[in-house]
Amino acid sequence: MNYRHAFHAGNHIDVFKHAALVLLLEHLRRKAKPFFVLDTHGGTGLYDLAAPEAERTGEAADGIGRVLAAAPEPDLAPYLDRIRPFVDRGRYPGSPAITAGMLRDGDRLAVCELHPEDAAALRGNFRGDARVAVHHRDGYEALPALVPPPERRGLVLVDPPYESRQEADRVGRALVAGLGKWATGIFAAWYPVKADGIARTILHHLHAAGIGDCLQAEFLRHPPDGLRLAGGGLVIVNPPWRFDQEIGRAGAALARIFGGPAACTIRQRPIPG
Ligand SMILES: C[S@@+](CC[C@H](N)C(=O)[O-])C[C@H]1O[C@@H](n2cnc3c(N)ncnc32)[C@H](O)[C@@H]1O
Repeated sequence: MNYRHAFHAGNHIDVFKHAALVLLLEHLRRKAKPFFVLDTHGGTGLYDLAAPEAERTGEAADGIGRVLAAAPEPDLAPYLDRIRPFVDRGRYPGSPAITAGMLRDGDRLAVCELHPEDAAALRGNFRGDARVAVHHRDGYEALPALVPPPERRGLVLVDPPYESRQEADRVGRALVAGLGKWATGIFAAWYPVKADGIARTILHHLHAAGIGDCLQAEFLRHPPDGLRLAGGGLVIVNPPWRFDQEIGRAGAALARIFGGPAACTIRQRPIPG
């Protein structure tokens, strides 16, 4: 396990992923009934923007730094309103901190993290919040064990580092297993875009299992060239009503901010091919 999210937290990929996460959680908050979130690959939950890791890559400055310095974009307001209090204190919130900040009394978050140091940091960041359960555990194994939740409504976020070639297959299998136990849950799996068809592998697993109702939302800084990470996307099963339009508008706002060839693409029920 070499991947450490501290080097990348707050980059343009995190910005798009977390803008989508906030929009999904806003949907869940619209009903009074409690909801459950499972974050299978949590990271540490909170990142110091002045840490050597962040300064070494400069990714946060080039990501959330640029977004906050740009002219206001109303379609990014739900996301920016949630993260600004952290950034004002020199921190960038990871997915667990964003989710925890949007839980109401009665809602729950379970977060898995396998790296021992990151799991310890994660636990420390949520000590004292009884709504958040931190598991030092393999997120893929935890997924089918922790769903369906008694709340019966909620979200599973699968956001692995893709360090091995098998990871896309693991994600696809985990989604199918999770949906087999919780057919009505919202499942969102993040994937990187280089040139290697990771999304296609995930979609093949879903289609082979007869799961066709999904959305692919992608944000690229530049077209994939096979060398650099061009951007990332989310495969979302059971997306809330009109989420496609909301994330499309947020992605278009990001494309305006980053300029040049940056683009957001939203595809409904994609057919892998
Ligand atoms: C991309 S980062 C997660 C970022 C986080 N979701 C966010 O948005 O702030 C992926 C994390 O997964 C952890 N990890 C890798 N394999 C894992 C596994 N099998 N189960 C749980 N966590 C894992 C890594 O240590 C890393 O912290």
